[in-house]
Amino acid sequence: MAEIALSTAPAHLRHGSNSGQPLTRRDGLLKVTGAARFAADHHPPGLLHAVIAASTIARGRVVSLDLAAAMAHPGVVAVMTPAHKPPLAADPDAKTNPFMFRLDLLQNDRVRYAGQPIAVVIAETLEAATEGAALLAPRYQREPARVGFEDATVFTPPAVGVGSPAEVVVGDVAAELAAARLRIEATYETPAQYHNPIEPHAIVAAWDGEKLSVDTPSQGLAMARARIAGLFGIPAENIEIRSPFLGGGFGCKGMLSGPQVLGIMAARLVGWPVKLVLRREQMFGPVGHRAPSRQTLRLGAEAGGRLRALDHHTLTASSTFDDFFEPASNASHTLYASPALRSAHEAVRLDTGTPLFMRAPGEATGSIALESAIDEMAAACAMDPLAFRLENYAEVEPISGKPFSSKALRECYARGAERFGWTARPLAPGAMRDEAGLLVGWGVGTATFPALMFQGQARAVIRADGTGLIECGAQDMGQGAWTALAQIGADGLGLDLEQVEFRAGSSDLPDAGIAGGSAHTATAGMAIHAAGADAIGRLAALATGDERSALFGAGNAGVIARAGRLYRRDDETRSERYADILARAGLFEIDGRGSGAADPVALARYAMHAHGAVFAEVKIDPEFGQIRVSRLVGAFAAGRLVNPRLVRSQYYGGMIWGVSFALHERAVVDPRSGRVMNANLAEYRVPVNADVPSLEAILVEEEDPHVNALGIKGVGEIAITGSAGAIANAIWHATGRRLRRFPVTLEQVAGVAG
Ligand code: MOS
Repeated sequence: MAEIALSTAPAHLRHGSNSGQPLTRRDGLLKVTGAARFAADHHPPGLLHAVIAASTIARGRVVSLDLAAAMAHPGVVAVMTPAHKPPLAADPDAKTNPFMFRLDLLQNDRVRYAGQPIAVVIAETLEAATEGAALLAPRYQREPARVGFEDATVFTPPAVGVGSPAEVVVGDVAAELAAARLRIEATYETPAQYHNPIEPHAIVAAWDGEKLSVDTPSQGLAMARARIAGLFGIPAENIEIRSPFLGGGFGCKGMLSGPQVLGIMAARLVGWPVKLVLRREQMFGPVGHRAPSRQTLRLGAEAGGRLRALDHHTLTASSTFDDFFEPASNASHTLYASPALRSAHEAVRLDTGTPLFMRAPGEATGSIALESAIDEMAAACAMDPLAFRLENYAEVEPISGKPFSSKALRECYARGAERFGWTARPLAPGAMRDEAGLLVGWGVGTATFPALMFQGQARAVIRADGTGLIECGAQDMGQGAWTALAQIGADGLGLDLEQVEFRAGSSDLPDAGIAGGSAHTATAGMAIHAAGADAIGRLAALATGDERSALFGAGNAGVIARAGRLYRRDDETRSERYADILARAGLFEIDGRGSGAADPVALARYAMHAHGAVFAEVKIDPEFGQIRVSRLVGAFAAGRLVNPRLVRSQYYGGMIWGVSFALHERAVVDPRSGRVMNANLAEYRVPVNADVPSLEAILVEEEDPHVNALGIKGVGEIAITGSAGAIANAIWHATGRRLRRFPVTLEQVAGVAG
């Protein structure tokens, strides 16, 4: 086995390597010049346009559609309905694994949620298809919609998230609560939120006999391909999905969605390439959302602030026909030591589209409640909320008792607090005003997210001219995966970044695993690293076994790959260029394969998480209730950072999402119709530039010898957690009022000065 510079160098940021460099995104120029082609930018010859007609009721049956009116419209080619559609090889309601979501593919006349596709109109132009869809004028048999927690029967789901138990208990919660000197109980509500990447789901599908070519954004190419293969009964090799650029994902492009499949069905039906792009309001229903929650936390503590019990109960909602349950209470598994700990979930089924993973699924939802409750308990103990958190610092993972693979949270608290100026914070709320008379509050929240890995593969090639090639079906939805993964690839091959071609974003390439769960860099990165090591190992074997080589007899373990040359480890004056080794062997190229996955032995032994601390300042108008986040300082530790510039950008994105969670985002559902009433980006509020405070992200160094050989944890989702709670706590500190229904709005705080 060859030694590679990357794996032998010890430091957080390695000397002379590509990893650790704060490079800009490799696809940045293409993006800002408009040269990057997104799915909907494709116009193959003969392209037809498909538009979904969506249900305006949330529950019932479609009784009639005016097909004649739609077909009579000039340019309309076909109307796809339950009665008129290509056959499928699998039932869209079948579920053979927990990552398979049930889809609405016009299987019958039932309506299960508002916004469900009930027909697809295919026409020569987008305008004709849109008009045709409007002419369908559906008539319904309507049944009352169940839209709130009170409308349905509460039950305990069989599992939450993907396969996690609905309840986990450590110790005796009731006994510890009873024995605690101080107790609090509080209930927090979070709304349904809808993923709204700037690029909606879009697909251009073209059939050629039994072969299918698809341009569509996907966070998981191999899974999407397998899903299509199953639904249409064709071999996966017959399908190519291209997804070089995604205009955001946030989880809603993790699984192939129903509308994407409808685009493929439409192309099958008419025998021409078809483009289907969701309108913004159509994003609110069939492509997933973050489920609403009602969370009750009960905490017990000693007078000195030591926790005795932490009980986190979540009531959430799923659809009537599928099983994703937001695992919000699991946010309490990791952070605070407590002799008794319980996480529990219950749920109702509502007439809504199925919820899905959305940016820190479970953790974000649970974190805002947990961090608020911890703050309330600190106040009950008359303690500084940061001191309270340190008093209850978990030295081992509370839910499992396992040691952490690494945990630099203390340093995150210290560095963040210092930068923010936390020590100047008055303990009592309502004690600070700025020069304009606004109420000022400071809050803190702890951030955490598991260091996950999925399974991925990659291929690495060294070519005759000594340059490299990495092939890996990785997905870049804007986070910078292609850049970070290319950096790892260049290191693995002992080359400079400019010498390595990086091919990704197609299902024809090795499966790099899903870009989700903040696991992509670790998973695909490990696969790429291993593939590079494999290729270098083969190259080294060629050289060290050849007496014409300067490396003859060095043995693989005695060779280092660097800057396009192999060096003898014991004598670096003896080296040889990759190109020369290949030329002498008469080889055009040499390649290697690698895979990335979590190490089960390490997983069994260690708890693996990234950590952080977020400090927030808010300013509130005492009369009008206007809330502004004026400062956010986050300090995060997430193992080795492949590209600090892109990591910082991920943290900023997460912190802004924290602002959004605390103050902006909410789907407003009409209780009569079950429709989302603000299904547009004007009324579904997310932060705009004016809402984004001064942001600082401190990158805390952390070496983790256990998570994986590269020491990489994820950075994508962690910064939402902690941030939302810090803002909520700052609102309390400014006003003295605990507002437990999120997002906190101006009406809730208006008139706080009395
Ligand atoms: Mo995600 S919810 O890991 O895209």
